[in-house]
Amino acid sequence: MTTGLEIVRTVADLRAQVATWHAARATVAMVPTMGAIHEGHMSLVRQAASLADHVVASIFVNPLQFGPSEDFEAYPRGEARDAALLAEAGAELLYAPNASEMYPQGFATKVRVSDLTDVLCGASRPDHFDGVATVVTKLLLQCGPDIAIFGEKDFQQLLIIRRFVDDLNIPVKIVGGAIVREPDGLALSSRNAYLTAEERETAPLLHATLRQAAQEMASGLTTEHALESARAVLEAAGFRVDYLEARDPVTLAPVSGIVSAARILVAAFLGKTRLIDNVPVPPKA
Ligand code: PAF
Repeated sequence: MTTGLEIVRTVADLRAQVATWHAARATVAMVPTMGAIHEGHMSLVRQAASLADHVVASIFVNPLQFGPSEDFEAYPRGEARDAALLAEAGAELLYAPNASEMYPQGFATKVRVSDLTDVLCGASRPDHFDGVATVVTKLLLQCGPDIAIFGEKDFQQLLIIRRFVDDLNIPVKIVGGAIVREPDGLALSSRNAYLTAEERETAPLLHATLRQAAQEMASGLTTEHALESARAVLEAAGFRVDYLEARDPVTLAPVSGIVSAARILVAAFLGKTRLIDNVPVPPKA
């Protein structure tokens, strides 16, 4: 398939192209992905194109961020289709390294962010965020973009990336991209493809329930009451809730009682599929 998108597979080729753009005083935005491109990724690429002169997308299914019983082997892969969609959204260069380019023989370094990685998704996926932090650090150092964009659907991931980019003085501006949803509210995710037809019908309840809880909290109900009702609604519909919590939107510290600004975050299984979502609690009127 011809996409008009140049594909590079080595750090040297990636750096050569980005250096050419920078030498011409042009700005570069990067959108890291694991492929299985959907409208959510495409909106990040469009946002990147609106913020910088050139957009580099990357596709790398990162083995370090999958647990032993997770779906690394089954994770959907299809480079030609993905490349066409990324090009359509405005990417000019695709960086698609193989595993030995990313993790050559002898690779022994891990990037670990304390505290932020131990809660929420980190509590049930122990090494996940070390894998994410390690690969994103490498991607940013390999590419050297001016801006890098990550979706707010992975809200905890976005905060962790902001933390280590700051801590390690990586010279890049991290930008969050709004969650893209199906018309019925389900957040777009590559893993939605795993849902059965029946589970797909139930799935939008996740977002509807979060919104309801956020509205209740914004109108003065305590965090505990709002989240207890939300959990009951989800469990009655067949969700197995991994976590459902309200946290500070910047530090991820737990919040309780009546709060003015927070983020409600959830991970819940429908059958075998683990869905995540989050919504802001709007400040009280
Ligand atoms: O959000 C993702 O798709 C991945 O976690 C990322 C940021 C591309 C790192 O592998």
